[in-house]
Amino acid sequence: MIAVFDSGVGGLSVLREIRAQLPRADLLYFADQFHVPYGARPIEEIRLFSEAITRFLLARGAATIVVACNTASAAALKHLRATFPDVPFVGMEPAVKPAVERSRARVVGVIATPATFQGELFASAVDRFATGVKVITQICPGLVEQIEAGELDRPKTKAILRESLAPLIAQGIDTLVLGCTHYPFVIPAMREIVGPVVEIIDPSPAVARQVERVSAHRLDLQRETGRLILVSTGDVDKLKEFADRVAGMKGKEAQGKWEGGNSVSLLSP
Ligand code: DGL
Repeated sequence: MIAVFDSGVGGLSVLREIRAQLPRADLLYFADQFHVPYGARPIEEIRLFSEAITRFLLARGAATIVVACNTASAAALKHLRATFPDVPFVGMEPAVKPAVERSRARVVGVIATPATFQGELFASAVDRFATGVKVITQICPGLVEQIEAGELDRPKTKAILRESLAPLIAQGIDTLVLGCTHYPFVIPAMREIVGPVVEIIDPSPAVARQVERVSAHRLDLQRETGRLILVSTGDVDKLKEFADRVAGMKGKEAQGKWEGGNSVSLLSP
């Protein structure tokens, strides 16, 4: 079984790609919606949450753990790999490399949370891949909350996007990296703002391919049947509703593939 976690609904953008790639794999999705958003929290706290979630997922039989959250990857991936050396982890890293390869203007924008920009993963991606290219970083305050609320194309969501993207557009980006797994759900609203030419890079298909490389040989795909279990530290019904309505996993529910889900509280506030 592959376990996928995020602070909230964001990792569903990665989960749906994994599901497309490995339809027979059993998947457990964990959303820490009691604590969402993670982005402005101290690194140590995010690390603590990530470790507790990992212990929970391992106890549930996870063979591979996907940290489907750029913020948790920035804060905790190194720590998780050191603490659980036998567990294969796949994490998120802002897609600076493909963006640099594709940018003709040599000006790339990256949107993510404050914690993601503080982490070593981002600095090292820029060091390694962005020679000769201007990389402009931008946070989007309030955007994750709007997405969690399912308000993907409300005026407030668009206003946040306009304000966040304006400086990037003004500086001539032709490529925009989505450095937070929540953001793919507002690509249509972003597209209205950046216009048709700017290329928007969502790393989740590449991450799903990496999950397949890392875990295909570990899965018992003869026995697995493509079950999907949703778990939240918040309101699991809201999580299911989002997975159905926005992430497009409704068909599977109709085929009886859902295991329901349950709300758990394994972490103190
Ligand atoms: N989905 C997240 C990420 O990829 C976290 C957003 C948040 O909780 O602030 O960074």
